[in-house]
Amino acid sequence: MSEMGTDGAALEQELERMLEIEKFEPPAEFRERALWSDPAIYEEAAADPVAWWTARSKELLDWDVEPTQGLDDSNPPFYKWFEDGRINASAQCLDRHVAAGNGGRVAYHWRGEEGERRDVTYAELLDSTRRFANALKDLGVEKGDVVGIYLPMIPEVAVAMLACARIGAIHNVVFGGFSAESVRERMEFSEAKALVTVDGARRKGKTAPIKQQVDEEMGGLGSLKTIVVIRSTGIECPMTEGRDVFFEEICAAADPECPAEPMEAEHPLFILYTSGSTASPKGILHTTGGYLTGVAATHRYVFDLRPETDVWWCAADVGWVTGHSYIVYGPLANGATSVMWEGAPDYPHKGAWWETVQDTGATILYAAPTAIRTFIKWGADIPAKYDLSSLRLLGSVGEPINPKAWLWYHQVIGGGRCPIVDTWWQTETGGIMITPLPGITATKPGSATTPFPGVSAEVVDERTGEPVAEGQGLLMLEKPWPSMLRTLYKEDDRFVETYFSKFGEERYLVGDAARRDKDGYFWVIGRIDDVVNVSGHRLSTAEVESAIVAHENVAEAAVIGQSDEDTGQAICAFVTLAGDTAPSEGLDAGIREEVAARIGKFARPKRIVWADDLPKTRSGKIMRRLLRDIAEGRALGDVTTLRDPDVMAELEKQIAAEGDED
Ligand code: WT7
Repeated sequence: MSEMGTDGAALEQELERMLEIEKFEPPAEFRERALWSDPAIYEEAAADPVAWWTARSKELLDWDVEPTQGLDDSNPPFYKWFEDGRINASAQCLDRHVAAGNGGRVAYHWRGEEGERRDVTYAELLDSTRRFANALKDLGVEKGDVVGIYLPMIPEVAVAMLACARIGAIHNVVFGGFSAESVRERMEFSEAKALVTVDGARRKGKTAPIKQQVDEEMGGLGSLKTIVVIRSTGIECPMTEGRDVFFEEICAAADPECPAEPMEAEHPLFILYTSGSTASPKGILHTTGGYLTGVAATHRYVFDLRPETDVWWCAADVGWVTGHSYIVYGPLANGATSVMWEGAPDYPHKGAWWETVQDTGATILYAAPTAIRTFIKWGADIPAKYDLSSLRLLGSVGEPINPKAWLWYHQVIGGGRCPIVDTWWQTETGGIMITPLPGITATKPGSATTPFPGVSAEVVDERTGEPVAEGQGLLMLEKPWPSMLRTLYKEDDRFVETYFSKFGEERYLVGDAARRDKDGYFWVIGRIDDVVNVSGHRLSTAEVESAIVAHENVAEAAVIGQSDEDTGQAICAFVTLAGDTAPSEGLDAGIREEVAARIGKFARPKRIVWADDLPKTRSGKIMRRLLRDIAEGRALGDVTTLRDPDVMAELEKQIAAEGDED
């Protein structure tokens, strides 16, 4: 427990001083023990990335049939990896560890909302997974069918995902913070045959009636034959005869034996919907062998993971890709012991995370900058009350981390001794792409440093596509990698158009702006498309706009991401009301309600600006750039292309009036 923790002024001074430090070398004692400590690994991988990835895949996975092929790039950008290999993801994550005598090892130290503790071993997880896999088969779910999963952070979420993988069903997890309407949309797009959900979900002392909400939306979905309900909270819930079944009952009735069927390496493992430039979400498709290779390798080597001794904690939600890759598939493939955290960081109290580190002896913590900023606001004296000495490595993910937050994390949580890995990646990349290696890379606060071995990234000029040595440009991934998305589910054309149309079919357009510094380090700046990152949750402005205009009193809306101290970016909506509707506080709330119902509470605009009109080009396109300028109080950029330049003067008045109200 550091003294700094309790003296705010001294800590502040220390962090200010540390801002001057350019590079943090890996601590000698970390480097000496690290799995990888020789920088030659980068050259080795670069010399033949396909051979190198193939070697990783054989090193970390036990294939039923080892692949003889690495990359098939005969039909770019539809790449295939390890195509003639056969493997089952659930067997990699469970059976092989149990067979090796590690069935008694804890897979998840689960921590419930009300402080409940439940340890789930690998043997237990395997037993539940086999039973549920058989139960799904009994319900008529077959290889290639899509199964929706809409669950809170309970161990059964891993069981549901792995049971799908076991029988070759494609899971489609929807984050529990999304509304039932979003679930319906995703089930409809993917023609899901079954949906796994809960009776209710707990959040900070309240219970939301999830099954009831799901029922209100799911009527008339022809493809959906079954809803499996996990009794999680025990609240009453409606059940439809012939469609709905209880998880516990079907598992109890199911055969406990369920041999894992080897799948083709390119068999789809899951779809995960994410936001793009338009309102319709993109169904990112990942397959089996390459994805497992990518997540197992990055989980092992980015986090220097020792399955026998580490306690790994990825504090994300399984509903996002971070949870898929680093709560479920990566850690389980590596036989790790993880913490699974159900609740909010301030429930039952603001020290709950640190108490959990102390109790579980967590050694590695992987969290989002938005969480770190929240902890900074709550004060260093809270973590100072707990013993955090078990921690040896810290990770950051989801958005750029500002240097001050990085330093706070390093000093207050890491006690100055833990390297920090700032990991850049995306739903599309499947696993971590740009990151330090903790025993090798000297880190710079705010930079994700350099690509993982076997990954080629470049910052290029927006117009020419030529690499920019120093300075800003578009981030590109230059070569295929095993865990890359294979397509957008049922939208091959959109896949090519979105990611591979700018500079050819060999170069993946990330959608982020970045710059490189004199050492070649990457500094990711943020999205170049109309995607907003709120607390690490990815949203499209178009998606939020269409939810707002669904409100009966709204004529038009334009949404932008505005910088926000707590959440990185926050949603700011410019709203034009219909007819002679006058702005009112109730209307404000009503609009936020509409967004919560259509997308989810996390998408609600933080700020609503009433606008008589929106700045548009002569062709009618809303100029969001100007809205961003005005929202953040910057001087306005070029307004000459506006159809009606007076619009901006009106908006300025409106913003000024908003200030008066506060
Ligand atoms: C977008 C991807 C990575 C899994 C969770 C989010 C931003 C992500 C970083 C980072 C700067 C980051 C990018 C990226 N992002 N990690 N370490 N530094 N920016 O996955 O929802 O697909 O969002 O998150 O803008 O494109 P996602």
